[in-house]
Amino acid sequence: MNIIIAGATGDIGTAISLFISRKHPDANLLLLFRDEARKQILKKQLEGQNAQFLPITDPFANEEIILHAFSSFTPHAFINAIGDGFYAKVEDAKLGLMDASYEANFKVPFYLSQLAYKIFLKQKNGHIIFINSVSGLEGFPYGALYCPFKFALKGLADVMYKEGKRYGIRVSSIYPGIVKTRLLNKMPFVPKKGILRPEEVARAVDYLLRLPPEAEVKDLVLKNCTLTWR
Ligand SMILES: NC(=O)c1ccc[n+]([C@@H]2O[C@H](COP(=O)([O-])OP(=O)(O)OC[C@H]3O[C@@H](n4cnc5c(N)ncnc54)[C@H](OP(=O)(O)O)[C@@H]3O)[C@@H](O)[C@H]2O)c1
Repeated sequence: MNIIIAGATGDIGTAISLFISRKHPDANLLLLFRDEARKQILKKQLEGQNAQFLPITDPFANEEIILHAFSSFTPHAFINAIGDGFYAKVEDAKLGLMDASYEANFKVPFYLSQLAYKIFLKQKNGHIIFINSVSGLEGFPYGALYCPFKFALKGLADVMYKEGKRYGIRVSSIYPGIVKTRLLNKMPFVPKKGILRPEEVARAVDYLLRLPPEAEVKDLVLKNCTLTWR
């Protein structure tokens, strides 16, 4: 199984990369990253596994390179774990941060998943998995700069799901609650207990990848069971 993971050097992306390489010894991974230092750490953790890395520091200027890397990899699945936390109350949300949130949470995921979708169209087969968020299903306080773009990503996933179905393309989204990653450092408040581990998201990805052809899961909501959402 050939799997592309975008945002592989993020905490959830790393957990997915390690989990898949452990559970699927036959897997080949194409790991998209920006941060060279984090890439070196992941490379070390994946020593002996079939993993190659592709930098996406300036993805829009390097479409040909990325498309060529995707198509020669003949992927079975594309997983987006790119995104970033921008938290502000409605009255404090700044336009500059809105652009940055749009880029990280929607534009780059759209662009890369669209490139993968084009390959899957040609192959008449493929699985796109978006790591979205419960913030893509529901608005939360301090989410003025975050929730709208996660909603937009759900919109894209819904369109891809319906358009892709007739071409053998599967589209799934995972909507995790709060996960213990570096993103928490940016959140205005973090509950002391009940936080998910990145490995739980990885386990959900693995579950989706193992579904037989006759079964599909479009949306998988992975909530923090002890948290009360307001
Ligand atoms: N942590 C949570 O509580 C939580 C809950 C629900 C959903 N999520 C979602 O899960 C995904 C992964 O988040 P995480 O918690 O693992 O955070 P993380 O460790 O910060 O990982 C985010 C990843 O996205 C990449 N990235 C950010 N902005 C980018 C951009 N403009 N272009 C290209 N790559 C970019 C980062 O690359 P670099 O390493 O180069 O910075 C990193 O690999 C995000 O979409 C996040 O919204 C997180």
